[in-house]
Formats: sequence, C-alpha cells, structure tokens
Amino acid sequence: MKLVIDKGYSFTKGVNDRGETIIIPSMVGSPHYGPGEIKGEKIDSTLNNLHIAIESDTIQAEYFVGELARRESPDASFSFDRRKFDQPGTLTVLSTVAGLLMKEPETITLCTCIPYSYFKSQRDEVEEKLRQLCFTVYYFSGPLQGKTRYVSFDQVLVLPEGICAMYQALEEIPRALLKKGALFGLVDSGYRTTNLSVFEMAEEGLRIRADLCKTLNIGISQLHESISRKIKDVIGEELDITDLSNLLVSPKEVWIDGQPLNFTQEVDQSRDEVAHAIKDRVRLAWGKAHRQLRIVALAGGGSLELKDRWKDLHANVHILNRPQTANADGAMQVLKRLENSKLRLVKERTTV
Ligand SMILES: Nc1ncnc2c1ncn2[C@@H]1O[C@H](COP(=O)(O)OP(=O)(O)OP(=O)(O)O)[C@@H](O)[C@H]1O
Ligand SMILES: [Mg+2]
Repeated sequence: MKLVIDKGYSFTKGVNDRGETIIIPSMVGSPHYGPGEIKGEKIDSTLNNLHIAIESDTIQAEYFVGELARRESPDASFSFDRRKFDQPGTLTVLSTVAGLLMKEPETITLCTCIPYSYFKSQRDEVEEKLRQLCFTVYYFSGPLQGKTRYVSFDQVLVLPEGICAMYQALEEIPRALLKKGALFGLVDSGYRTTNLSVFEMAEEGLRIRADLCKTLNIGISQLHESISRKIKDVIGEELDITDLSNLLVSPKEVWIDGQPLNFTQEVDQSRDEVAHAIKDRVRLAWGKAHRQLRIVALAGGGSLELKDRWKDLHANVHILNRPQTANADGAMQVLKRLENSKLRLVKERTTV
C-alpha cells in the first residue's frame, strides 16, 4: 500500500492509495477517563475520539490523540520544533494515522514531507528514523476501537512541502498555461510555515526553480497571536489555543462571566493584517519573478482561513480543490507514478 502522511505543525493529513483521507490536529496528550465512559454513554467511534496505546522497544504509553487531546488533555499543545521528527509526539500522531489508513498485513511505502528549507539538512535523518520505526498501536476508541495495528514501513521517501503540493497543482492548472518557458508559483500557507515553490516548464520538462523556493516562518499561528492580543486588551487575559481555534469558526463570540462577547471585528482585522504580512513576504521572496508567474496556486489551510484576501497577491490565483491536503495529494501523485524500484532514483534527482 502507498501511504502519505503530512505531519503539519497544526494538522496531520494522511492519504492512502485507496482514496481514503484523514485529517486530525497534530496533538498528543495525557489520557483521562471521563464521566461519559463511567456512565456508559454512546461511544463515539469517530476520529474525534482517539484514545490509543503505543508500544515499541523503548516506549509503552497511553495517549489521547488529535481532537480528543485538543479538547481534553491539559498538556496537549502544538509543537513548534524545527526538528519535528525529534518530538516523540510526532511519531505517535504519525503512527496513529498510519494505523487508521492501513489494512493488515500490508507492505507499506510511506512518503512524508518536511518544510522546504529543512529538507536538505533533515531528509536523510528523517528517512532513517521512519525506516526504523516499529510501533504497535492499540485503539481503545475511535474508528478502530478494540483493534491493534503493527506500524512499520518497508520503504520511506521524504519530499519537501510545497513541492509536493505543486504536483497536485499541476493536475489543476489549465493545460493552456503549461507552455515552454512558463513559470508557476505555489504558496502553501500552513500554521507555522508558508512554503513557496516555483516550477518552470523547461526544454527538458518540468524544473524546480530552487532559487525561488523557500520556507517563510509565517502562517496562521500569527493570526492566532494577533487575535489573542486584541482580545487580551478587552478581557484582560489570553485565550488558550482551543478557544482561539473555536473562535475562528462562527459564531465569533466567547462567553466570559456569563456574557457573550462578540469579536467579529477583531478577527476580521487580524485576518486582514496577517494576510497582508504573508503577501508582502511572498512578494519580497519572489522579487521580479513574481510578475512573470503565469499563475499562483494556493495550498494549505491558510488559503481557506484567509480565503477572500488573496486576490491582490497575483492577477491569476487559484485555490486548489483540496488545499489542506494538497501536499499529501501531490505526494501520492508522485508515489503512484513510480515503481518501487525507482524511488531511490527520484530521491537522487530531487534537485533542491
Ligand atoms: N477548512 C478550513 N477553513 C478555514 N481554515 C482552515 C480550514 N482548514 C484549515 N484551516 C486553518 O488553516 C491552518 C493551517 O492548516 P494546515 O493544515 O495547512 O497547517 P499545517 O500543515 O499544520 O502547518 P505547517 O504547514 O506550518 O506545518 C489551520 O491551523 C486552520 O486554522
Ligand atoms: Mg503544511
């Protein structure tokens, strides 16, 4: 089976070659046993209820994962570590999602992505780590309740974020634009990072323009910070990450001391400011090449979060059909086109 897992700083996106997709918050936290279980309430067998146990040579632990951790684990938070695969939480989320997308027993080729700028320095290490991974995941709850999955990968390929999404964008860009000499840009706006990629339709085929590819340390986390600061001015305290994420989904109000406070204006103002900052950084990074691009494709959850604010980035912007999973979808396109034996060749050719 071919499997892609894009472990983003805020959401982990998984797709398999059977067309199944999973998106869960990249969060892991301590478990507890809630009153629901004591009263024997109807069991939630969705992805919102992932209570798991992990076992390996070195680890034996129980966790809440994803939405359940976000909602109920006091110690759960997003990790901003530049070396995300050094975080034990990363391997736990990745294995939990892998288990949910596999049937047993299966030979698995895994592809995962890391931010473009860290690709060169971290790729070999991440591949090695994932090749050695051998976890047993037991699902106390969720879609695989009562089941065990043995997670290990036969082959592992690591690709850069943004570049993967570009392979998906190429499926959606009008054929008429794919002419010799044409340049295409892609902005993958995530939570902590925004990955920029440019491809050129060269004589010999598609070429990655490494000089125009970059990871910017800016994303939707700045939106959370900006809203948090504005709200603190009003209520005198900061909201935590769960309240902030809830606030971005309508209705834009928070209940404090029995009163609903509406923050629509603050949220909209912050969205304007952050969109402005991201667009400025993108224009600066691309310089004069920016005006030569035929189209700028938008990927990442940021393309939806700031949906109506991208129009002035470029005369021809296109939000991908499934922007949040664009890296995972694009990486799956790459895997599907390859025979297993050719994986190594692609790794050697990825000119980054
Ligand atoms: N359907 C949606 N509508 C509005 N906003 C969304 C939607 N989906 C995701 N987002 C927002 O986009 C943000 C970024 O999502 P994304 O999954 O692309 O980030 P990430 O990949 O985890 O981050 P990074 O790329 O920095 O690792 C999320 O934190 C969320 O606020
Ligand atoms: Mg991402």
